[in-house]
Amino acid sequence: MSAPPELPPIVSRAFDVSRKAGYVSFCRNETGRLLATLAATRQGTLAEFGTGCGVGTAWLRSGVQTDARIISAELDAKLAGAAAEIFVDDPSVEVLAADWSTLRDQGPFSLLFLDSGTPSEVGVDSIAELVESGGIVVLDDFVPCEMWPPITGGRVDTLREQWLTDERFTAVEVMIAPDASAIIATRR
Ligand SMILES: C[S@@+](CC[C@H](N)C(=O)[O-])C[C@H]1O[C@@H](n2cnc3c(N)ncnc32)[C@H](O)[C@@H]1O
Repeated sequence: MSAPPELPPIVSRAFDVSRKAGYVSFCRNETGRLLATLAATRQGTLAEFGTGCGVGTAWLRSGVQTDARIISAELDAKLAGAAAEIFVDDPSVEVLAADWSTLRDQGPFSLLFLDSGTPSEVGVDSIAELVESGGIVVLDDFVPCEMWPPITGGRVDTLREQWLTDERFTAVEVMIAPDASAIIATRR
């Protein structure tokens, strides 16, 4: 047995900011490592809907290898301000205190992390045109489920079903931990 890999320094910094703000609704490290891995394949503009305190943004930044830029929108101005501090010296990252819908005209995106926590807003129809061909959408916080259609809380999980079957995307649900899964959907 050995210790898990170290956190990238920018992610540690984001955790420090979260701790100071008393904010705990950040993505788990397994999702973060997935985001970093996917970001490492990207150019152009990556976006995040729902910044929180910047942990997911930091994971994305840790993976980006090129001159790609990252924009992230957070509705709560205090959280957005705290997250923006993490990247104050980094011109490739912009955190906006805004509803994510204000980023609509900044696409198309090469990667889009949908993490605003409002499933009804991030259905395939409202997102598909924001993603470039070959672009990747990531959604997390699902509970792995062997049934089809997928069930969450005793009901058919229509969001997950939509994302996994829409013809505009090739999509897969991957388990990132025994109790957590994410959807990765690539725009055709
Ligand atoms: C799960 S947290 C984000 C965690 C963050 N992405 C991370 O990985 O650390 C969800 C955040 O989305 C924000 N949010 C909710 N609705 C939003 C909207 N319409 N536009 C922008 N942000 C929104 C909430 O204020 C909350 O801070």
